Amino acid sequence: MQLVACSYIMADQKFFPSGFGSMAIHAGHAKDPRYAHLTPIYACSTFVYDNAEQGMRRFAGEDPGYIYTRWGNPTFTEAEEKISAMESFGVQDDQGNPLELKALLHASGMAAISTLLIMNLKAGDKVLTHFSLYGGTQEILQTVLPGLGITAIIADLRDPARAEEALRADPAIRMLYIETPANPTIQCVDIAALTQLAKPYGVIVACDNTFATPYLQQPFRYGVDFVIHSTTKFLNGHGTAIGGVLLGRDIEFMKTKGYKTYKTLGGNSNPFDAFLLVNGMKTLEVRMERHCANAMEIARWLVDHPAVARVNYNGLASHPDHAVAMRQMRHPGAMMSFELKGGLQAGIRCMDRLAMCTRTVSLGTCDTLLSHPASMTHKSVPAELRLQYGITDGLIRMSVGMENVQDILGDLEQALGGE
Ligand SMILES: Cc1ncc(COP(=O)(O)O)c(C=O)c1O
Repeated sequence: MQLVACSYIMADQKFFPSGFGSMAIHAGHAKDPRYAHLTPIYACSTFVYDNAEQGMRRFAGEDPGYIYTRWGNPTFTEAEEKISAMESFGVQDDQGNPLELKALLHASGMAAISTLLIMNLKAGDKVLTHFSLYGGTQEILQTVLPGLGITAIIADLRDPARAEEALRADPAIRMLYIETPANPTIQCVDIAALTQLAKPYGVIVACDNTFATPYLQQPFRYGVDFVIHSTTKFLNGHGTAIGGVLLGRDIEFMKTKGYKTYKTLGGNSNPFDAFLLVNGMKTLEVRMERHCANAMEIARWLVDHPAVARVNYNGLASHPDHAVAMRQMRHPGAMMSFELKGGLQAGIRCMDRLAMCTRTVSLGTCDTLLSHPASMTHKSVPAELRLQYGITDGLIRMSVGMENVQDILGDLEQALGGE
């Protein structure tokens, strides 16, 4: 497998872009031997050798060619290089040099998280985490890992003192796992403060950066060891493929134990989805700017709406995590939730009346997506438990899209209005 470290080689010439947008468009692209403008979808399971000698050298890692798509593929490489460039853009390593990262492209966010956990943890280890996490991550930590002898300690990590207490009390903690902003509550934890606390204990820090994307937040800037994404969301940006990525700053580890775990677990992506991802990522900056501008305007409008009891958006000064979000994010993002005064029936009625916005559960696409957890994703969760996580009967979650903002507001107005 070809493991290319530098992402600033564009069309085979060195170029140092000044802005995130230029870098996102060009980084990772290698000139195609047949002069195709875009890196093709290399739809092949295996790669060939000119002779036995070349095959031997390739397996020995002396020839840079590809071997087998589960191990790597040129279309994956472009996506991996682009994401590495985005997460490291303008970030320095401990010696003050441009940070180098290694990315591994996966079939889903959950596949990337599985590789991360298995390549770092063993029986007896513990993972310290915040209580608000994507449901699938919570499930793997609380129901799958215990079968392997690995357990999770859950604390409110919005208060770093709680993290310090846990780290001091339990030397078996091997990993600090955070997701910020978190799904579904949009809570934020302080990446820099938590990483600083974890390091003296030799604890690995991993951060799920799905909601923010590297355009809004770069966790490696604060010293974290690993970043994961569900690329299904804003990175792909168009809802066309499930995908995930795992990035690490210890290049040697990522090329050896990390890579071995990845290729033997078999959670790799596929060339078609990688192609869709590459093209989606080129427009990340312009998409996020529009998503975030729309989100801010909508949040302010919702605050004043008579049918709305509460708006959860990090961009509002009233949000408890506003200060942390503004410290570590360029803009507060495009995810929010709001609570309707009329409870369950008001939530269902709002969903039923939507005319332009889309009723669905995912996030990060061009269109505005709304879901009503109490009647959809969390319908089977006992009400007391739901309420503990802040998921009230009238809560609506919204991934703000890129439509003209007056149209989103118009649709919300008629969905929330009387009669
Ligand atoms: C924050 C976060 N992380 C991870 C995942 C899992 O990603 P995937 O569905 O691509 O496996 C999701 C899915 O919604 C998510 O929201």
